[in-house]
Amino acid sequence: MSWIPGSTSLRYGGDYNPEQWDREVWLEDIALMKDAGVNLVSIGIFSWALLEPREGEYDFGFLDDILGLLAGAGIDVDLGTPTASPPAWFWKRYPAAQPVTRDGRTLGFGSRGMVSPSSPEYRRASAAIADQLARRYADHPAVVMWHVHNEYGAPISDSYDDYSVAAFQEWLQNRYSTLETLNRAWGTRFWGQSYGEWDEIDAPRVSASVSNQAQRLDFQRFTSDALLACYLGERDAIRRYTDAPITTNFMATNCPSVDYWKWAKEVDVIANDHYLIAERTDNHVLLAMDADLTRSLAGNRPWILMEHSTSAVNWQPRNIAKRAGEMARNSMSHVARGADAVLFFQFRASRFGAEKFHSAMLPHGGTETRIWKEVVELGSDLAGLSRVKGSRVTASVAIVWSIESFWALDLEWRPSVELGHRERIEAFYTALWGLGVTVDFVHPSQDLSCYDVVFAPSLYLLAEDDAANIDRYVSGGGNLVVSYFSGIVGENDEVPAGASPGGLRDVLGLSIEEFLPLYEDQTVSLSDSASGRAWSDEIALGTATAVATYVDGPAAGKPAVTRNSRGSGSAWYVSTKLEGGDLRSLVTSALDAAGVSYVAPVEGLEVVTRTGETEHFTFYINHADADAPLSVTGTDVLTGAPVSEAASVPAGGVRVVASPCAGVAAQTHDPQLARSLS
Ligand code: GAL
Repeated sequence: MSWIPGSTSLRYGGDYNPEQWDREVWLEDIALMKDAGVNLVSIGIFSWALLEPREGEYDFGFLDDILGLLAGAGIDVDLGTPTASPPAWFWKRYPAAQPVTRDGRTLGFGSRGMVSPSSPEYRRASAAIADQLARRYADHPAVVMWHVHNEYGAPISDSYDDYSVAAFQEWLQNRYSTLETLNRAWGTRFWGQSYGEWDEIDAPRVSASVSNQAQRLDFQRFTSDALLACYLGERDAIRRYTDAPITTNFMATNCPSVDYWKWAKEVDVIANDHYLIAERTDNHVLLAMDADLTRSLAGNRPWILMEHSTSAVNWQPRNIAKRAGEMARNSMSHVARGADAVLFFQFRASRFGAEKFHSAMLPHGGTETRIWKEVVELGSDLAGLSRVKGSRVTASVAIVWSIESFWALDLEWRPSVELGHRERIEAFYTALWGLGVTVDFVHPSQDLSCYDVVFAPSLYLLAEDDAANIDRYVSGGGNLVVSYFSGIVGENDEVPAGASPGGLRDVLGLSIEEFLPLYEDQTVSLSDSASGRAWSDEIALGTATAVATYVDGPAAGKPAVTRNSRGSGSAWYVSTKLEGGDLRSLVTSALDAAGVSYVAPVEGLEVVTRTGETEHFTFYINHADADAPLSVTGTDVLTGAPVSEAASVPAGGVRVVASPCAGVAAQTHDPQLARSLS
């Protein structure tokens, strides 16, 4: 499927906000877009107040004009619905729709961000403006795809207003049918919280002590669903007029409130926004992790990098600017990991408002700036990479990513503040990145049989069926690596009957008699000379054997790392926080034992391969200060020059090498797509 009609090359461009500029500036911008090789811009994302100045009265003048100019210039448009910023009239007319925070503050107008996702007025008004736009522009020659809303879940997601409380009660009735089932699922006999009527149930607002944790978890699920219903309302309104792809921009690893596994099924193409955490020196590794999760959400189909920045953002404590070459490395890393489009926030830097200090493709300083020159160069490089379009990334190693586990583990009163699903995922991902291993992310319920090794870092919440799925994977020959505090609770945050780790006891061949969290600065030594922090367990071995034991600490003499053979597979358990080289050794042992082949690149070199119908494209992205050797020979896709065995990628540079391959190696985990490829 050509997922963006009419497109033969990679897409390049960004958000464009013409409403902030006079018409002469549009003409200049369009000429500059052509200079930079821009072929796709997202328009209209925050234009509701202009398009519908009074309720039900529309004025499409500016949009008609700019879309006409862009069509004339051959620049395609991803048309936004403006519903992430309802106009002043909406806030005035519908005060009951105003969002309310968990601690009871009502938020007002004057910024951006939507109102209560459960407000019937918002649902109606947002579907109406989407309908108007689609009716008018479905057949417009510039409009090739649709961008609903902006970053659902940001800047706020959950609202504790009256509409949300009523919708939550209804959502709970659908989930549990009877109050008896709900009372049991939430364990309401604890602290005397039993409910006798549905309307006694409130949103879990701030309370005297810790709120019912199952209730909070359900409120997260409800919020994700309420936002999804808003998306679906708009999507369906647009779909009545067009078959063009419809999407909304995700924030893969950075959205705490939305279950993207569920959402991914509802968009035609996955689009993602990613911003570096400027002060982290390993932010390129986190970028890779975000891109790998995005590709996984896309079922390994190509995806759109909908937003990133050319240089500094404006909303972090210290907004460190990107240095020469960094923007290109960031962009290429996304492409290497499956993006077929590289877009920025935004084309021209804003002079007014909250984002005037945010970088853009065209900075305030204009076309003489380093940023603009690099933008033009990147546009030309991406044009040179057209044959990469549609090729796929293949991974034989996966990490489990479960948003429900994040939600649950982040609630209060856990055995240690050091516990974190995200922290452990980053640690394992970083070890794999350093070894040059490309990783997919998986949901615990999906078929895992195509992976040689699956890592489950601090997978705290694990539903019974998902635990059974993981057990099946191992018994059928898979290799599993589980780190501490996994399988601790079921889907309602309840401790399953018997010893921890619940549904993982059999597959790991052990049980945990007691959690033994460590002091803040404490480290424990292991018999294999590694050291652990933060956590340890008192393990009782069943069928598992100890790979390493504790030399000291509260579990001295007891197993620290174990391995269990189960069926034709094996499962490792790591009961403490290993870091740096220690974690890398553990990961290496697990990969080697599973027979995974990989070539660890030199420090700081990122190597990823995409595979097309007849060629492999190996991306070398050098984040280090020294030149680095290449590991394949072939042709440099950008220069056309042959690449010999002695070739290298310069410090800070990128090279993409094409080498022939035999046939389609396009792996997909999407059954529907697998059928269409075969
Ligand atoms: C994104 C948002 C954009 C812009 C950008 C700045 O989260 O979608 O509209 O605000 O951040 O970094």
